[in-house]
Amino acid sequence: MADARAAKVEVFRDYFGLQLTFAETLAARRGLSLSEAVRGFTNLHRRLGLGDVSDALHGPEWRRYAEGLERQPDRAARLDWTMEVLAAAPDEPPQPDKVRFGCFSYDPPEVGTVRIHFNNHDSQDGAGPLARRKIEARRSELTRMLAHLRRTAPEAETLSGASWLYHLEAYRRLFPAAYIASAREAGEVGLTGTSSWGQFLTHTGAVRDDLRQAFLGRMADLDPQAPWLAFPLRPLRVSSPLSAFYDHFGLS
Ligand SMILES: CC(C)(COP(=O)(O)OP(=O)(O)OC[C@H]1O[C@@H](n2cnc3c(N)ncnc32)[C@H](O)[C@@H]1OP(=O)(O)O)[C@@H](O)C(=O)NCCC(=O)NCCS
Repeated sequence: MADARAAKVEVFRDYFGLQLTFAETLAARRGLSLSEAVRGFTNLHRRLGLGDVSDALHGPEWRRYAEGLERQPDRAARLDWTMEVLAAAPDEPPQPDKVRFGCFSYDPPEVGTVRIHFNNHDSQDGAGPLARRKIEARRSELTRMLAHLRRTAPEAETLSGASWLYHLEAYRRLFPAAYIASAREAGEVGLTGTSSWGQFLTHTGAVRDDLRQAFLGRMADLDPQAPWLAFPLRPLRVSSPLSAFYDHFGLS
């Protein structure tokens, strides 16, 4: 069991290495400790199963990881320590109020708006979840998710998203035109989730080398007050009335 978890996280070694490198640069520029930069500007707090950064700012599990990180002599040792702690961490707890249909999920409506998310839950056959031959599978998930939403939250009026994924034609083609046409670059972008970091991953968990090089090439000019600008693909915010989705997916 522990070995299975270790193998599962090991696939993401380069991904976490990239995040640690970024945190190092930011720590130096902002005058933070490394662990403060990791907590505030990478998704490690969540990947360690500790939830949103604000949930457990000084929890004992985080403190143990943070203190260990500060003690390591160099970058390689810091990554080894991080992988060791990740391997021993519990799986991320399911968020009870999140509703998931395959790769898509949504948060419960807030003031009439529902926010959707995408994660890779379909690549065990070797093909990524956005492959052309999986378009119907993804549309079917969206259709079932929207039917559920309409039934259980008829008061919801708007669907929104914010992600680097809206740059990809392979993702955009899944949605109604009105929703995609609303895409606008997000202002300030938080970096403790996947809406920016996800772009570095392929469906196997490897890091895309071209994007890594582009990103690292920007570290010398990193703006410490707007570090999200260093990411090659900046999240786009999208939103449209749910009625456009109900029409598009034949649910009206
Ligand atoms: C989304 C994800 C599965 C894409 O990985 P992948 O290996 O490219 O997966 P797929 O093969 O399904 O991608 C298919 C398409 O997207 C394109 N693509 C994916 N990432 C890209 C990137 N960073 N830049 C340009 N194109 C990209 C591929 O070229 C391909 O396009 P094509 O079919 O038109 O040739 C992977 O990045 C991931 O799991 N990320 C984490 C989840 C995430 O970021 N969620 C967003 C949370 S807000």
